[in-house]
Parts: sequence; structure tokens; C-alpha cells
Amino acid sequence: MQESSTRKIYDVHSLFYDATFGRLVRRRIARAISHMNLRQNDRVLDLGIGTGCSLNFYPKDRGKIVGVDLSAGMLREARKKIHEQERQNVTVFQADAMRLPFGDNTFDYVFISHVISVVSDPYRLVQEAQRVAKAGARIVIVNHFQSTNRFLAMLEKWLCPLCTKLGWRSDLALQDLIRRTGAEIEYRYKLESIDLWETVVMANNKSALQNGLAHVAAA
Ligand SMILES: C[S@@+](CC[C@H](N)C(=O)[O-])C[C@H]1O[C@@H](n2cnc3c(N)ncnc32)[C@H](O)[C@@H]1O
Repeated sequence: MQESSTRKIYDVHSLFYDATFGRLVRRRIARAISHMNLRQNDRVLDLGIGTGCSLNFYPKDRGKIVGVDLSAGMLREARKKIHEQERQNVTVFQADAMRLPFGDNTFDYVFISHVISVVSDPYRLVQEAQRVAKAGARIVIVNHFQSTNRFLAMLEKWLCPLCTKLGWRSDLALQDLIRRTGAEIEYRYKLESIDLWETVVMANNKSALQNGLAHVAAA
């Protein structure tokens, strides 16, 4: 996926996202955010916040939430929610999640919900998250990862060109992500025993970031 086409695809998606995919993702997002146990001054970065489905679940009285997204259409919907919910602790703006305008060690949580297989370079996205997250911060990823079943993995690879047209890829393997970013999984879970999506919680290990970059350089 190239970012210029992603932006256009999601500008269109914004018109019906909440009524379609948004309904499917709500429960998963709610669970992931409830596990964060946000404290008063925690800073949360929601990468690819989209129409702001997550805004229904962040507490109003704790945490400072910053959301970024490429698509102006998706952000328009997120801003409507901020206004309707009279949110004082949320700001959103347009930015590329792979080139973030934040300094190192800024956030206590980085939430990456259904975005990692949408960007052109998922490894770079995670490395940016690792950079802007504080040491020991949590990086929470909700996504579909390629099945470890060989037959299903082949099917997902085969379906990938179709999925790409719709705005995401279906063949991203969690093992590759871990290997290439050096990220460390703290825990992971699915909401159902048979579930296409998974939540992966990582503790930000800054030395792992260096190892991950070394891996990428060597690849
Ligand atoms: C499937 S939607 C997920 C939205 C939301 N996180 C959710 O779970 O409902 C993917 C979002 O990622 C955004 N996106 C894709 N590539 C991006 C990038 N490079 N930087 C920022 N946002 C991006 C899209 O515009 C879209 O809003």
C-alpha cells in the first residue's frame, strides 16, 4: 500500500466505516483500552485513529490522548466524536504514522489498532512507535496476522492483492514483525477461540529497538 492511495481509500471508507468495519472492531478496542488502566497523566498515542472508534472507550477524566491519521475524511469523523462527547483530553491531527512529529520517549502507551497491515512499511511503523514511546511503555497492537497454519497462510497470501485494493494486506506475519523490530511480546490474546484478530501487548525495550534496526540493516 502506498500512503497516497491509502489516504484516498480511507477518505471514501470514512463515509461508512462506523456502520461497517467500525461495528466489528469496537469490542476488541474496548478490551484493549480497558487493559491499559490509564492514570491521570498518562500520554497515549493512537496511531491511525481513523474515525475515532476508540474515543468511546478512553476515560474522560484520565490520560491525554493524541490521535494521528493520514486521512482527512477519517479525522473529520473523529473530530465529530470529540465535539459530541465534549472531550477535553483528546487532540487529533493529520500525520504519517511512519514519520511522527514527536520527540523520543514521549508516550506511556501507543495504540495501533487495525493499522499495521494498512501502512506500506509495518516494521517502520513499529520502530516509530518504539522511538516515541518511553522506555517500558506499552505498545498495544490489534490486528490480523498471517495464520501459522500453512494452508491458511497460503490462502491469505493469495487473497492479499484483493485485500490491498480494499485498504489492507492479509499476509503480515507476527514472527516477522518481532524479528525485524526486536519488539518483545508481554502478552497476547484473542477475544474468541476462532478469531481473525489478535491483541498483542509489547513492553517497550529501547535496546530491542537498536537490535531490531540492526536486523533490518543486515536484511
Ligand atoms: C482500518 S482503519 C483503523 C482505524 C482505527 N484505528 C480503528 O481501529 O477503527 C486504518 C486507519 O489507518 C490510517 N492510516 C493508514 N496509513 C497511515 C499512516 N501511514 N499514517 C497514519 N494513519 C494511517 C487510515 O487512514 C485509517 O484511518
